[in-house]
Amino acid sequence: MNRQTWRGLTLALMLGASAAALASCAQAQAPAAAPAARPWLDPKLDADTRADQAVKAMTQDEKMTIIFGYFGADMGQKYTRVPEALPGSAGYVKGVPRLGIPEQFQTDAGVGVATQGGEPKKRERTALPSGMATTATWNPDLAYKGGAMIGSEARDSGFNVMLAGGVNLVREPRNGRNFEYGGEDPLLAGLMVGAQIRGIQSNAIVSTIKHYALNSQENGRFVLNARIGEAEARTSDLLAFQFAIEDSDPHSVMCAYNRINGDYACENDFLLNKVLKQDWGYKNYVMSDWGAVHSSAKAVNAGLDQESAGQAFDTQSFFQGPLKDALAKGEVSQARLDDMVRRILRGLFASGVVEKPVKITTIDYAAHGKITRADAEEGIVLLKNDKGLLPLVATARKIAVIGGHADVGVLSGGGSSQVYPIGGRAVQGEGPATWPGPMIYFPSSPLKALKARLPGADIQYADGKDLAAAAKLAAASDIVLVFATQWNGESFDSPLTLEHDQDALIDAVATANAKTVVVLQTGGPVLMPWLSKVGGVVEAWYPGSEGGEAIARVLTGEVDASGRLPVTFPASLAQLPRPVLDGDPKTPDAMFEVDYTLEGAAVGYKWFDKKGHQPLFAFGQGLSYTTFAYDNLKATTAGGVVTVSFDVKNTGARAGKAVPQVYVSPKDAKAIGGWEAPQRLAGFKKLDLAPGATTSVRLTVDPRLLAVWDAKAHGWSVAAGDYTVTLGASSRDPAAKADVAVAAQALPVGLIKR
Ligand code: BGC
Repeated sequence: MNRQTWRGLTLALMLGASAAALASCAQAQAPAAAPAARPWLDPKLDADTRADQAVKAMTQDEKMTIIFGYFGADMGQKYTRVPEALPGSAGYVKGVPRLGIPEQFQTDAGVGVATQGGEPKKRERTALPSGMATTATWNPDLAYKGGAMIGSEARDSGFNVMLAGGVNLVREPRNGRNFEYGGEDPLLAGLMVGAQIRGIQSNAIVSTIKHYALNSQENGRFVLNARIGEAEARTSDLLAFQFAIEDSDPHSVMCAYNRINGDYACENDFLLNKVLKQDWGYKNYVMSDWGAVHSSAKAVNAGLDQESAGQAFDTQSFFQGPLKDALAKGEVSQARLDDMVRRILRGLFASGVVEKPVKITTIDYAAHGKITRADAEEGIVLLKNDKGLLPLVATARKIAVIGGHADVGVLSGGGSSQVYPIGGRAVQGEGPATWPGPMIYFPSSPLKALKARLPGADIQYADGKDLAAAAKLAAASDIVLVFATQWNGESFDSPLTLEHDQDALIDAVATANAKTVVVLQTGGPVLMPWLSKVGGVVEAWYPGSEGGEAIARVLTGEVDASGRLPVTFPASLAQLPRPVLDGDPKTPDAMFEVDYTLEGAAVGYKWFDKKGHQPLFAFGQGLSYTTFAYDNLKATTAGGVVTVSFDVKNTGARAGKAVPQVYVSPKDAKAIGGWEAPQRLAGFKKLDLAPGATTSVRLTVDPRLLAVWDAKAHGWSVAAGDYTVTLGASSRDPAAKADVAVAAQALPVGLIKR
């Protein structure tokens, strides 16, 4: 039985299990006093000093205690959670009460406090829109606010470690977990996910950036070997981690399941020791993903500091008995064990959780609903809007709403990040009943939200199962909104095709009435064979707890459509670096290679630009209900930093939000040292503009975005020469260009504090 099956079994058994112990388990841990004899409890000392002092005071058994985690939920016959863990939670690590070191209560994940079973009512929490949706806002302030909100729910639910901050780049649009991540560009993903982590950690808890690294598909994730060159990795996936870590200083990093260039991510000396800890100077700790540890000495010596859920998910509890043996045999040094402990303690001290213990308390769900709604509505991307079909005008008399359970709710993504909805599940019995299911619709109905906003309209709903009935309703309506969904989740990848014949439904409806707008709820890109027949397309992703409200506010124009794509929508699978997904889901334990040297650092739009492919929708694309003009583009250099300035004017008649994007390219790529692709995103800004208003924007370009990896110098190198700065509304919609001469520059490999 593999790990996914175990999880399925666990979930099935736990669904009926009581979560009554929730309150009793997470007693508030009283902050321990800091007498002179316990200097590590003195918040006036820095986290490094405190960690050093605490390590000195610990016994060997205490050290062994905090490097090992337990799963926080029961797993059938195989595993019963330790009683101290919060029921249905991701994990638990014992504390050292003698020294005032708190227990670690771990919860998933990026859209809110997720649970893995338990009494439904007790599981209910606020869910943000998917990570992809938040990234589509291109608004780091919203990502921060969302992070702060879910972090506060984690704290108020008794958790002090949140396993949030997924920043794996979309190398593979079929990856079932793309919805948890920050899109395909290192700068955008790094800044958006970094902002979310900052928000979470503003609650004095630990956030965990993940899954480090190159964990780009679910199919075969436990066994696959990702092949990539060092320069390519550092310029793409690792750069996204680097930007996010610089921005947020996460107190923990979670290493991934897969292998990279031969070694598992959690025993990968290059990734953990060399890049993360030596090159980037990362001082906190690395925790494993659940079931990602395969050794004791090798993993420890490669840089893994904490084994997660070891008894439940790994083939052995590697960081217990086997590690003691390795220490006795001298395969692992005492100094390294002390380093592991010091790093974990440093993360805890730096987070503030020792001074501010977590405590279960009430949550203001009404206030949090507004935060998730704001995030969802700014992430909704208007992709097509012929003849101004949207926003829906108050004069539209007959509106048909078809499919997607739009009468009752909105879809969410499955797996460990699944937040159980406030008010319970809107749809029962669809999708798998067990892990990575159940498929959950949040009870926020777009239909109801539309009716509330358009009281004069006659709005009829059809579930879309009967194509002829749907087409009949469409033909009799002034405008048609078809809701189409694609459920994605952890542990499986998805074709880019909508399931359950929804393409045929859209086709039939659009044939009956060309004034059809398709509202998509998907984890990432999908193909749209019906695109030319429909009048409008809106990508709403998985929009979270208040998704129905958010969709209605955008469709009716109560707010502007202001999301922009953080990921390329391909026109066909043939355009992808790997038209056929690697690995065979039928043989999940058979090792295979995934060749990322094919695209190297040319991920997403960079691949499309390099190959000259015309995507269905380009990275950065998205319409507004108003129009914008771009003017006065200037690019200058001072002290090796390129500054770009420009004006953006709202030229339309209504307020709206622009997302000007700045791309850079070398004038002569060959002379400049061979970029992976013609252009790179180098800056962006979300602007809220009243009609007629103009705003001036100044952005500085991170010099690494002009650089190439220089293996000899072990750093970044900017070649002297002319570079083109392109200001545009998307990666394929340039508005102005400026050239700037840049001097040669060598940049260090380490983190840069902004
Ligand atoms: C996932 C992680 C998650 C962990 C704990 C793993 O299966 O890959 O993202 O944090 O489980 O639930």
